[in-house]
Amino acid sequence: MSTLPTDWSSAGIAERRERYYAASQRSFMPYRKPLILSRGEGAHLWDESGRRYIDLLGMNVCISVGHCHPVVTAAVQQQITQLPHCTTMFGHPVPAHFAQELVARMPAGPDWVVHFTSSGAEAIDLALVMAQSFTRHSDMLALRNAYHGATLGAQSLTGISAFRHEVPLLGGVHHMANPDPYRGIFGDDTQAYLDEIDRTLQCATPGRVAGLIVEPVQGYGGIVELPAGYLKAAADKVRAAGGVLIVDEVQSGFGRTGDSFWAFEAHAVMPEIVVMAKGIGNGYPLGAVVAQRAVADSMAGKFYFNTYGANPMSCAAGRAVLQVIDDEGLQRRSQQVGAALKQVLLDLQQRHALIGDVRGRGLMLAIELVSDRRTKAPAVAQTAEIFERTREQGLVVSRSGAHKNILRLVPPMCLSMADVDEVATAFERAFDGC
Ligand SMILES: Cc1ncc(COP(=O)(O)O)c(C=O)c1O
Repeated sequence: MSTLPTDWSSAGIAERRERYYAASQRSFMPYRKPLILSRGEGAHLWDESGRRYIDLLGMNVCISVGHCHPVVTAAVQQQITQLPHCTTMFGHPVPAHFAQELVARMPAGPDWVVHFTSSGAEAIDLALVMAQSFTRHSDMLALRNAYHGATLGAQSLTGISAFRHEVPLLGGVHHMANPDPYRGIFGDDTQAYLDEIDRTLQCATPGRVAGLIVEPVQGYGGIVELPAGYLKAAADKVRAAGGVLIVDEVQSGFGRTGDSFWAFEAHAVMPEIVVMAKGIGNGYPLGAVVAQRAVADSMAGKFYFNTYGANPMSCAAGRAVLQVIDDEGLQRRSQQVGAALKQVLLDLQQRHALIGDVRGRGLMLAIELVSDRRTKAPAVAQTAEIFERTREQGLVVSRSGAHKNILRLVPPMCLSMADVDEVATAFERAFDGC
C-alpha cells in the first residue's frame, strides 16, 4: 500500500485543482459543487461521504462491463506483476491474442487487421492518416455536431465549436449538415442530407476525398442516430469520389446499442476503417483502429506508433472485457434493460412537456429538453437545474449537446432492472414541479 498522504476533503481537492490544474483541465466540471468519488462497483458509485449513486454515465462511456469487474481486475493484476509494459518492438502474446479476438468480433468478409493506441483521439488521428495514405487524397468529410477527440487531427474532424480551439486546425475538412431528424436543418428528409454530400463534393473539395468519418450514434452531440438509409448511400458517394468510410465506434461499440455489437452493423454497410476506444478497456487506457488489410498496408513503408499502444496491461483488460461481454450476455442485456430504461423516459415525456425528444437504443439514450415543443427552443436553464437535481436524487448522468440541454444516459452495460426502477423514481422527483 502506498503511504503517501492523501487529502480526501472536498475543500482540499477543490483547492488543489484550482491551484495546480491548467485551465484546460480545470474547466471540465459538470456540477456546481464538485462530485468526489471514492469507489465503484458494477453500475454503482460511492462518493467520499459514502453516498451511493447509480452511474448512468460510465465515466463517459469508458466503463462498459462495470466498475471494478473482478475478471478485468484479475487479468490486469496478473499482467501488472509480470510485465506492465512491453514496447511493440518486442513480441508479447497478450496484445497478439487480443488483436485476433477483436478481429473475430468484426463482420465476416474483409481481411481485418488491428493497430492499438492508448486513446480514442490517437486512434482517430491514425485512421485519418491511414485513409489519406491509402487513397492518396487529403480532404475529409465529417458531420456537424460530431465529436472525435481533442488532438489536432481529431479536433479538426469535430463539428462542435465548444471543442474547437482558436488555433489553425487542419484544412480540407468539410462539415456537412447533420442528418438529425429532430433538430437537423432538413428535418427527417434523409435524401436532402444525402444531396448535401454531392454539393459539398462539388463545391468544397477537389472532387476527390480521402473519406467520410461518422459516429453511427453521436455521443457528446446528444445521442443522435444516423437515419436508416443514410450511411450506405453516403458511403457509396464517398467511394465514388475515391474515399473510404471511417466509422467512429468509440462510444457506440462493444454491444452497447443492443441490436448489434457495432452500431454501424444496423446500417448494412461495411466500413474500411473502424475506430474504437473507451469501453474497450473498461477504464484502462486503450484504443484501436481496425481496418481492412489493404487499407492498413498503405502505411507499411513508415513507422507509426503510440508508445503505450498495445500495452499488455490494457490489452489484458481488453481481452477480459470481451470475455465478460460474452459470459454475462451484456449485449442482450443492453437491449433489454435499455428498452426498459427508454420506456421510463417515454413515460416521463408524457407527463413533462419540457421533454421534447426521447431517443437512442440499447444503453445509449437521451432526453432533449425544450421550452417549447413546437419551436424546440433549448431549455438550457431548466436542464441545468434538473441535472443538479438528478445528482441530489442519487444519479450520475451527463449534460450534453451543443446547447447543453440534453441528458445523456450511457451506463455500464451491467445496469439491472432494479436500477431502472430506482432511476424512474429518481427522475420523477428530479422533474417534479418542472
Ligand atoms: C465518439 C468519440 N470519438 C473519439 C473520442 C476521443 O477519445 P479519447 O478521449 O479517448 O481521446 C471520443 C471521446 O470522448 C468520442 O466520444
